[in-house]
Amino acid sequence: MGLMLQVALLCSLTILSFSSLSSSLSSNYYHKSCPQVESIVAKVVRDATSRDKTVPAALLRMHFHDCFIRGCDGSVLLESRGGNKAERDGPPNVSLHAFYVIESAKKAVEAVCPGIVSCADILAFAARDSVVLSGGPTWDVPKGRKDGRTSKASETTQLPSPAFNISQLEKSFSLRGLSMEDLVALSGGHTLGFSHCSSFQNRIHNFNSTHDVDPTLRPAFAASLKSICPIKNKAKNAGTTMDPSSTTFDNTYYKLILEGQTLFSSDQALLTTPNTKSLVYKFASSKKAFHTAFAESMIKMSSINGGQEVRKDCRFVN
Ligand code: HEM
Ligand SMILES: *[C@@H]1O[C@H](CO)[C@@H](O)[C@H](O)[C@H]1NC(C)=O
Ligand SMILES: *[C@@H]1O[C@H](CO)[C@@H](O)[C@H](O)[C@H]1NC(C)=O
Ligand SMILES: *[C@@H]1O[C@H](CO)[C@@H](O)[C@H](O)[C@H]1NC(C)=O
Repeated sequence: MGLMLQVALLCSLTILSFSSLSSSLSSNYYHKSCPQVESIVAKVVRDATSRDKTVPAALLRMHFHDCFIRGCDGSVLLESRGGNKAERDGPPNVSLHAFYVIESAKKAVEAVCPGIVSCADILAFAARDSVVLSGGPTWDVPKGRKDGRTSKASETTQLPSPAFNISQLEKSFSLRGLSMEDLVALSGGHTLGFSHCSSFQNRIHNFNSTHDVDPTLRPAFAASLKSICPIKNKAKNAGTTMDPSSTTFDNTYYKLILEGQTLFSSDQALLTTPNTKSLVYKFASSKKAFHTAFAESMIKMSSINGGQEVRKDCRFVN
């Protein structure tokens, strides 16, 4: 890399991490203005989960997508309007769902403290509650995010791709002030949920010119994926759970990486540098270490700045 480029990169990273550090989020932001907010949101998430076990995974992923585009500003919640196609209708939308849970939490909160709590904060609470309901760690969510006024489907290309290698993942995370340890810990979100064939078919059909199947996949696992997804770009709804215990926030995901039994190239890529590999081993051998690291990294991710207003309705700007 040229020296100028290195300097420029360093400067932009410094600015980015400075802006997230200078964020005005605080633990007691709603202490006086809406003390009940977290228990109201938790109840809505709990009720929705009791009816549909896929809700926690959806809300956790929704928060990640929100934070990675324009900061955690509720931009993922805005609906397309007029000529504008919003993030939620952009390409990696297949598995984004359960928006109704955030909308009904917002309604319940508005009934008690109108105009006070941002949709971005409600989503951050709901993501934490989702992890807790699944048997994961809890943490104190920093509060006081503002909602943004812009959401563009075209910007979803800024999300990391499941085909990314470790240097591409590192770049995507460091642009947002997140470290390699954050990358390994947050990837553990893949202990929950479901993936469609389209997200991992690159590994089981025409992987590269010498291998039809990614040789880092355990052969029996690759065969089972092929039976679920026999033909490229077919069966749009087909897919499989990320991990056999896909509603439990355990450390199985890291054990599966070591066995060549995770779905994405981006999961397997965590074994390709000594530093990230040793973290995978650490989290595979200690659920406690994973939970502690995950909570810390979620606080960092959910503190990425964005937003200007407190939306009245999470689907539309004021
Ligand atoms: C490291 C970069 C990441 C990549 C490349 C990635 C990619 C993906 C892909 C491709 C899917 C499946 C989409 C589908 O086919 O339906 C998925 C699902 C999911 N991701 Fe990630 N992800 C990343 C990081 C994260 C993070 C940081 C979290 C949260 C902390 C997360 C949580 C989830 C969850 C919970 C699901 C399941 C969603 C559901 O079942 O509704 N991911 N991810
Ligand atoms: C998802 O995005 C694709 C590509 O932009 C679009 O054609 C499709 O209608 C979207 N699906 C949903 C459910 O929003
Ligand atoms: C990752 O992919 C990029 C883009 O294809 C490539 O330039 C880079 O060398 C790759 N890095 C590694 C570690 O494979
Ligand atoms: C295909 O991928 C395998 C495993 O990553 C690698 O060893 C091999 O060199 C690749 N072949 C080509 C032509 O890139």
